[in-house]
Amino acid sequence: MDNITSINQDPAELADALLDWYDENARELPWRIPPGSVEIPDPYHIWLSEIMLQQTTVVTVIPYYEKFLSLWPTVEDLAISELDQLLAAWAGLGYYARARNLHKCANYIVNEFNGSFPETESELLKLPGVGPYTAAAIAAIAFGKQAVVLDGNIERVIARVFNVTSPLPAAKPELKKLAGQMTPTHRAGDYAQAVMDLGSDICGSKILKCSSRCPWEENCLANALGTADHLPRRKPGTAKPTRRGYVFWAEYNGHLWLCRRPESGLLGGMMEVPSSDWLESSDWNAVPMPQIPIIANWKETPGLVHHTFTHFHLELKIIRLELSEMIELQEGGWYPFSRIDDLALPSLMMKIINHLRQPALDL
Ligand code: ADE
Repeated sequence: MDNITSINQDPAELADALLDWYDENARELPWRIPPGSVEIPDPYHIWLSEIMLQQTTVVTVIPYYEKFLSLWPTVEDLAISELDQLLAAWAGLGYYARARNLHKCANYIVNEFNGSFPETESELLKLPGVGPYTAAAIAAIAFGKQAVVLDGNIERVIARVFNVTSPLPAAKPELKKLAGQMTPTHRAGDYAQAVMDLGSDICGSKILKCSSRCPWEENCLANALGTADHLPRRKPGTAKPTRRGYVFWAEYNGHLWLCRRPESGLLGGMMEVPSSDWLESSDWNAVPMPQIPIIANWKETPGLVHHTFTHFHLELKIIRLELSEMIELQEGGWYPFSRIDDLALPSLMMKIINHLRQPALDL
């Protein structure tokens, strides 16, 4: 092992080494201006991509980003779009509050800022759907501001370079301070994206490719100490809980009963196959039998539908009712299976539908 006191952690030298690496290795991404280009980033593109990238992978986001830009090439176009159309284009990306905020924010930019995005982190923070990470990312990438961009990937990289062994989330302020010391005044947008690429391509959560390919290999304390695999540490007991509930699947002659979720909350305003409350529970024995929508011959179907949201896992059992006449069931309406694909249902609902439609897709 190297003598760790001889490790160079000079922030300016580290930033320069990373920027040199980025010049050679930057990922090509549709919202990204390549390093060295004279092109100026379009704040609308950067904002749109950063909102989509919240809690969603780059690979998933790319086709959505391209679809949105072809449907709504400018923030003015997005502002005057129909919310339902926007939600339909968003279907499958998850976390639908983001889509509602996107619409709100586009209107706010057009009405309050005449269509031009504000440039400072503090003003960006006031926009609907923009939190500290996104404000910093837009300020740095779109406007070249020296903002400290810190998401889970960047926290991981910084925790390793400086061998921060205190667990998350308590370690956040320390990581932010260290990240701040490293952030250069020049090429702020390239630097932010370079750390993102390092976290994604080399300093991964499971796969580390330190040797020779990492521009910070010689500067990384965790690499010298052999601790990188274990960092960042997390406070134990922060595993996601599991919620459980029942889905009421009612069908009649090629039609499925669907209703709309409340505007606020998870999957707000999206169409759904109705369900009982989703309750946190240790196992199915602890889940109360739900209040069914109408007294009828409901049958439990085999298997479970699994889904994961940011803060919890979800397990659903489906109970099914085949009706021989088209009766009204509380709120909602009957939708033909042939039109399901046009309804832009969220991924969870498509999972439920696919669970029951297989293998007999002939509905
Ligand atoms: N994740 C979040 N923002 C990103 C960006 N601008 N480039 C790559 N990955 C990202």
